[in-house]
Amino acid sequence: MTIHWFPGHMTRARRQIEDKLKLIDVVIELLDARIPLSSRNPMIDEILKGKPRMVLLNKHDLADPQVTAEWVRYFADLGLKAQPIDAAAGTYVKEIIPRAKELFADKIAAQIRKGINPRAIRGLIVGIPNVGKSTLINQMAGRKIAATGDKPGVTKGQQWIKAGPELDLLDTPGILWPKFEDQTVGLRLAATGAIKEELLNLDEIALFAMKYIIRHYSQALQERYGIEELPSDLDDPNEVVKVMEAIGRKRGAVVSGGRIDLDKASLIILRELRSGKLGRISLERPEEV
Ligand code: G4P
Repeated sequence: MTIHWFPGHMTRARRQIEDKLKLIDVVIELLDARIPLSSRNPMIDEILKGKPRMVLLNKHDLADPQVTAEWVRYFADLGLKAQPIDAAAGTYVKEIIPRAKELFADKIAAQIRKGINPRAIRGLIVGIPNVGKSTLINQMAGRKIAATGDKPGVTKGQQWIKAGPELDLLDTPGILWPKFEDQTVGLRLAATGAIKEELLNLDEIALFAMKYIIRHYSQALQERYGIEELPSDLDDPNEVVKVMEAIGRKRGAVVSGGRIDLDKASLIILRELRSGKLGRISLERPEEV
């Protein structure tokens, strides 16, 4: 799925979320644990206007657990509780309901004081495309509900899904756009597969990812590809390309004359990174912010 976000799309997506916000008690903001800030909408605080909110760091299974723990501290400093989850496997998904209750505790207490039987909390999942919104909705509903690949601007009747006796979820998530303006953010989004490669140059995305992997996860390169010799100067792209070529050679990405097909090597590196074959890798750290 490719969404080209034009100003019109953004305005419409924002308006749709603002309409949904009127119906809900708690926002569930889904971020990619490998790139929490780069996968965050730049206007999120403005759009949510103080609505109680929890942050979920999804695809925890693919992210470096130590770095994810640093991100949890980072969000705590902002006053936000962040919970790492793996929506696809359902890991930690059961933590969501107690967190929603915590966020809504004052209102529940007020209802009880008034003698009203507290109703189920109403939640809305929001996040950028591909972050796992539909996967999480399906997981919480215990069945396939949301069509993956939903587009901004496409409206349909809202329906509530029972995610247990205490939480109702809107069946359509709120789709947000990422920060496109910053080149590094774009590269992180492309490296994790959040935005399509065609928007950026494939070699450039793989070069960016490889540089990061050499700096922080060189052991993965030794273990997976048997690469022992690593560049000493990561600012020299030719040195990094040599590592990519060595991987291409090992994987048979060779064209006539023994040259390495760098596009093919780049694709192999990105596929293996995204599917977790290189291990659990984060591509963004709080200290880089
Ligand atoms: P969206 O609604 O936010 O656009 O995202 P969606 O649920 O469609 O998920 C996007 C991709 O991310 C899907 O993979 C989905 O399986 C994967 N995904 C979601 N949550 C997790 C998670 O916690 N861990 C991992 N590893 N992957 C997750 P896909 O390749 O597009 O499709 P599929 O063939 O895997 O379904």
